[in-house]
Amino acid sequence: MIQEVQAISPAKFFADNRSIAGFGNPAKALYTSIRELVENSLDAAEYARIFPEIRVRLTRLSKDELKEIIGISEDIDKRLKELIKEKKKKREDNKEEEEVSEIFELIVADNGSGMAYNEIPILMGRVLTSTKYVLMQQRGRFGLGGKMVIIYSIQETNAPVEIWSARKQDNSISHYVLKIDLHKNEPIIRKAEKIPKKKFRDVWGRRLNQGTIIRVYILGDWPRSRRYILEYFKQMAIITPYATFIFEDPDGNVHIYERVTEEMPPPPKPTQYHLQGIDTQILTSLLKKTKAKTIKDFLTREFQRIGPKMAEAFLRVVGIDPKTPVNEITQNDKIIAAIVETARKFKLRSPDPNCLSPIGQKLLIEGIKKVLSPEFVYVVQRKPFAYAGHPMIVEIGIAYGGGVEPGIHLYRFANRVPLLYKEKSDVAWKVIESIDWSRYKIKRDEDPIAIFVSVVSTKIPFSETSKDFIDDFDILRKNIKLGLLEGLRKLKEFLSRKEKAMRQIKKRQMFIQYAGNIVRSISSIVKSDSRYKDWPEILEDNLYARLMDLIDEKLQLGATKTVEEISEDMQASGDMSE
Ligand SMILES: Nc1ncnc2c1ncn2[C@@H]1O[C@H](COP(=O)(O)OP(=O)(O)OP(=O)(O)O)[C@@H](O)[C@H]1O
Ligand SMILES: [Mg+2]
Repeated sequence: MIQEVQAISPAKFFADNRSIAGFGNPAKALYTSIRELVENSLDAAEYARIFPEIRVRLTRLSKDELKEIIGISEDIDKRLKELIKEKKKKREDNKEEEEVSEIFELIVADNGSGMAYNEIPILMGRVLTSTKYVLMQQRGRFGLGGKMVIIYSIQETNAPVEIWSARKQDNSISHYVLKIDLHKNEPIIRKAEKIPKKKFRDVWGRRLNQGTIIRVYILGDWPRSRRYILEYFKQMAIITPYATFIFEDPDGNVHIYERVTEEMPPPPKPTQYHLQGIDTQILTSLLKKTKAKTIKDFLTREFQRIGPKMAEAFLRVVGIDPKTPVNEITQNDKIIAAIVETARKFKLRSPDPNCLSPIGQKLLIEGIKKVLSPEFVYVVQRKPFAYAGHPMIVEIGIAYGGGVEPGIHLYRFANRVPLLYKEKSDVAWKVIESIDWSRYKIKRDEDPIAIFVSVVSTKIPFSETSKDFIDDFDILRKNIKLGLLEGLRKLKEFLSRKEKAMRQIKKRQMFIQYAGNIVRSISSIVKSDSRYKDWPEILEDNLYARLMDLIDEKLQLGATKTVEEISEDMQASGDMSE
């Protein structure tokens, strides 16, 4: 039998394996669609160094409304009928709780950089195209997210995506209606036009000077994704306090998180690879692209933190002449493998952390206060460290009381994106499990404690393709643990100072009660004596005031701080992270 060799396009591959990208069922797909578009919007605003303003509207549509809007065929009817059948079957098999799949219109609008008219069809219509293929900390990386939303939409509703985008320097708004040809991995353009900026108003009646608006029609399950979507916005607001998010949900509620700061973290700088952060594939492609002539030149030119001496010492260990021409190496798989292997063991300078952009203590504190208004908050930023040739920074926050519910709540962020699934598998959860809470006088199930763990890196070590949780490895676990222990020591100190302050306040209240009684008794005794019957009221007041001063003096209340002041003291007296 002759077997036919076939190749499939990346668009088709991801369409067939959409659960890899988080589109496995209508609930997860609704959540992922919002996430992908919001994260593109944040990247675009931050790239332009603008405070992001992101508006999201999710509206339920009836089949008829959808048909009217996009004028399409029975496809949706057919798909909805299929879904009802699948649902019935699942219920019969008792496999899943009841699902409610409906069609939604999803609109995400931002004030970011916008896209050029000619680039939109490729950036949004061809899988694995991106402007983010540079080595630095970013939310997006793969050139897939936005396109997956479109592919999912086409698969489920057969509706095209609609895009409006404007850059500051353009006079017009680029307007596209497009689909993706899955077999060719190419955009199918239904409409392309330029609308003068003056003539355009968006669905909220606003002008668009700079930014992007994307509208898709997707199948979703709001009841089952609601909790995650609302949590996503809440956590996004914590880790992005310099952005405004407005989310109009399908039940008619509007969730608003306003920007609370005038600062943004400094932008990350694109960087070169570190010799320990590559594999043979990356090395081969760098060898093919380089302008260097010799291997020594190549190492100093294409990698960070390698000087001529270091390059020579390294090549000696690999066993190749520094003058070997690059094209000789490119042909030699054995040498390529030897370079990668030697690099793993060779002592090199740590990777440069300047390509990272952690949120920073001040902004994280503001984000936490904005969303949870806790009584106490403390944030530690650990020093950068290296993992497999990539720099990494960990920030740990701890908050107590206020809007924090009883129990321990973990908030995880990777490159400033919240992680909401599979918490118990995450390295941060393992650290929480390893802590003896009683040492900090904390009752795990009763005390209102929130823990924030934010990890940034050029490569986040996710355990699975779904990118839901971070792998457990020694240096990361140690950094999280040391940060958390520092926070817990501060929390313990805060709680004992708070308790003392509370005791003083209680005592004062008691004394005040007595002071009133004493003044009244003295006054009535004195007045009963006819010589003092004209005892003036003012003396009574003076006596009362004098007694109060004595009480405050005795309790040293001037030195007692408010809970908020104690919390601020704790942050100011922070340990230096090593
Ligand atoms: N709202 C937007 N504003 C400006 N440019 C955008 C916007 N959305 C997408 N883009 C551009 O389109 C490209 C492709 O987006 P897409 O989400 O498909 O991939 P990505 O963000 O690069 O990577 P990832 O797969 O991790 O999301 C982006 O790299 C960006 O250049
Ligand atoms: Mg993206």
